[in-house]
Amino acid sequence: MITKQKGCHDIYGDEAKKWKYVSNVIDAVCERYNYDFIRTPIFEASELYHRGIGEETDVVSKEMYDFKDKGDRSITLRPEGTAGVVRSFIENKMYGDATQPVKLYYNGTMYRYERPQSGRDRELTQFGVEVLGSDDPMIDAEVISLAVNIYRILGLKGIKVNINSLGDKESRDNYRKALVEHFMPHVDSLCEDCKVRLQKNPLRVLDCKVDADTEIMKNAPVMTDYLNEESKKRFEMVQKYLNLLDIDFEVNPSIVRGLDYYDHTVFEIEADIEGFGSQNVLGGGGRYNGLVSALGGPEVPGIGFAMGLGRLMLALEKEQVELPINNSLDAFVMYVSDTEKEYATTLVQELRMNGFSVETEYTNRGLKGQFKQADRLNSRFLIILNDTDLENNQVKIKNNKTKEEELVDIDYILYYLDEHLMSEDDADCDCGCSHEHEEGHECHCNGEGNCGCGNHCDCHSHEENE
Ligand code: HAM
Repeated sequence: MITKQKGCHDIYGDEAKKWKYVSNVIDAVCERYNYDFIRTPIFEASELYHRGIGEETDVVSKEMYDFKDKGDRSITLRPEGTAGVVRSFIENKMYGDATQPVKLYYNGTMYRYERPQSGRDRELTQFGVEVLGSDDPMIDAEVISLAVNIYRILGLKGIKVNINSLGDKESRDNYRKALVEHFMPHVDSLCEDCKVRLQKNPLRVLDCKVDADTEIMKNAPVMTDYLNEESKKRFEMVQKYLNLLDIDFEVNPSIVRGLDYYDHTVFEIEADIEGFGSQNVLGGGGRYNGLVSALGGPEVPGIGFAMGLGRLMLALEKEQVELPINNSLDAFVMYVSDTEKEYATTLVQELRMNGFSVETEYTNRGLKGQFKQADRLNSRFLIILNDTDLENNQVKIKNNKTKEEELVDIDYILYYLDEHLMSEDDADCDCGCSHEHEEGHECHCNGEGNCGCGNHCDCHSHEENE
């Protein structure tokens, strides 16, 4: 048997439905914030990541899936989304668009050759946003609030936002000097990688996994003490906007992020859930005002973040958040004879074309087996075909919950289903989604003013919650 690769997952069944639900929420929230979807290639020239992310980062020096293609080009499977989006921004001259800033989001697979464990995969899915063309601290706060609001809307409670500032170039230069002065006298006690990092990129010493718990690391100088006046003021403005947006956060000077392109604001959102495990950073991001020019574009500032969907699903599971996935069908069409089967073929098509979710029989089950199959699929109505009824232009429709059944004229099937499915749902809800009201009119807004599908919800249960 051929098995999947280490650190990869098959996502199917209810799990896949949950992923799809979460992605739909993400789409809806991004739309509200006016972010446009962007799809960039899964592989890029390796140079993009060497120049964009930085040679000394773990991601580039240890974790890249890179190979030579048949044309002898150095290719890398994307380890993250920012570099590719920035490449696309430059290549497609989006900096010339009238509608600045350019606000983009993506949701796709990334590849990192890491040692797999719970929450750390080799194939991972990231949702991320990038805003290019604004240096306003207000947008820094917007990006952080977008991330937080997605967790909130999904119903995840245990999150903690840590922010820090890496300042401008002058501030970082001063900080680098301070780090070298601090670590140099103890260089022999550092791991082999850190000895090199200290020479080439001292900031990277701070996210060393080997030396993390040593005294020398714990007593290292902190970035916030080296911010110049301008950087300090900018950081204060970001905090002011976060307070205005009602986002709880903590300034945590140890957040330096693992990628080289950051300056000014950096942040991480961690799972604050008991027993979550060591891979508790659900998402992170920051400002990268030098990245567009470093990749050959004009001087355009940028900021963004990404969250791992796998870690998010683990967090939702740990908090036992029930996602309103749709596990039912509108109707199951049942038949026995060949003529009934022919009619079933066309009826199923007509119902599907009119927006109903419909299934029928494909494996020669008898009627008894078809009833069981309809139950397994949670079909709300059964359309039971019978030659005699068909001769009279009628079909039998049975409500699978109340077990009431009626003979319905063929011309009336669509209206019948429409009417009866609607009255089963909460007729007063105009939120535009169907999934969260199907079972007992349950509302998943968590009292927050929306139902989780991303649309406003006006159903009774929601009013009660408010
Ligand atoms: P990152 O911190 O490297 O940032 O990754 C963002 C998130 O992706 C992490 O917080 C984590 O949830 C998830 N993640 C990363 N590696 C793995 C892995 N091996 N297995 C499972 N999940 C993982 C970035 O990638 C930046 N591009 C974020 C950004 C966007 N900064 C500015 N714009």
